Amino acid sequence: MVTQPVVLTEAQVEIAVPQIRSLVLDDPVAKKAFGGQHYVFSEELTRELNQFGNFVRNGLPKRQRVRLGCCVFDDRGNVTGYQAITVMQDAKPNLEETEYVGIKSLLNYVQLKKLVVRKDYRGEGVAGNLLQVSLELSQELDKKWRGDVLATNSAVIKFLGKHNIEKLFEWHNKAGNLMWRMGIV
Ligand SMILES: CC(C)(COP(=O)(O)OP(=O)(O)OC[C@H]1O[C@@H](n2cnc3c(N)ncnc32)[C@H](O)[C@@H]1OP(=O)(O)O)[C@@H](O)C(=O)NCCC(=O)NCCS
Repeated sequence: MVTQPVVLTEAQVEIAVPQIRSLVLDDPVAKKAFGGQHYVFSEELTRELNQFGNFVRNGLPKRQRVRLGCCVFDDRGNVTGYQAITVMQDAKPNLEETEYVGIKSLLNYVQLKKLVVRKDYRGEGVAGNLLQVSLELSQELDKKWRGDVLATNSAVIKFLGKHNIEKLFEWHNKAGNLMWRMGIV
């Protein structure tokens, strides 16, 4: 049984973070997509989850980039999936976006940054539930939805395709990996 993403108390965030860490580290594809140990052991997961709670309670802060993280749980309270998104609000493109993605204008979209589902819960719609959160948010805010995935990640490309999210163009990141910029055409 999979529940919808919920707002967590600070105590629940403390319990969720190590579980998210282990499900990322349990999958080499997820580990690479999440930016490796550096990201999972930084304070970023905690900050993303707390910011999602703040957003639900108080709305979006007036910042160019707002990172929000949310997770879903099984009926025993264990994390089954995690998603992080960035809401761009007239955001100035950073070095990667100008030099590698090739965008020069201000950014104004909801961007998928991280998505992972616990291995034993895959294929049950957990990622679909998480994606729904970012898609609904992009509609509410009247913003486009965007995401960048490794061109080799056929699972996530098929998953996004099932939700009508297609390749818009391709680019190479600093490490030389071919990336697909995904969005709704
Ligand atoms: C990609 C991922 C998030 C999908 O999660 P999920 O909860 O299994 O996805 P859902 O159950 O909501 O959707 C299942 C659909 O996704 C696609 N899909 C998922 N895994 C797939 C795979 N290994 N191969 C091909 N298609 C796959 C299929 O379209 C599938 O539907 P179908 O079985 O009817 O064909 C999950 O496999 C994962 O965590 N991967 C590792 C991390 C990662 O790559 N994250 C993305 C980059 S940040």
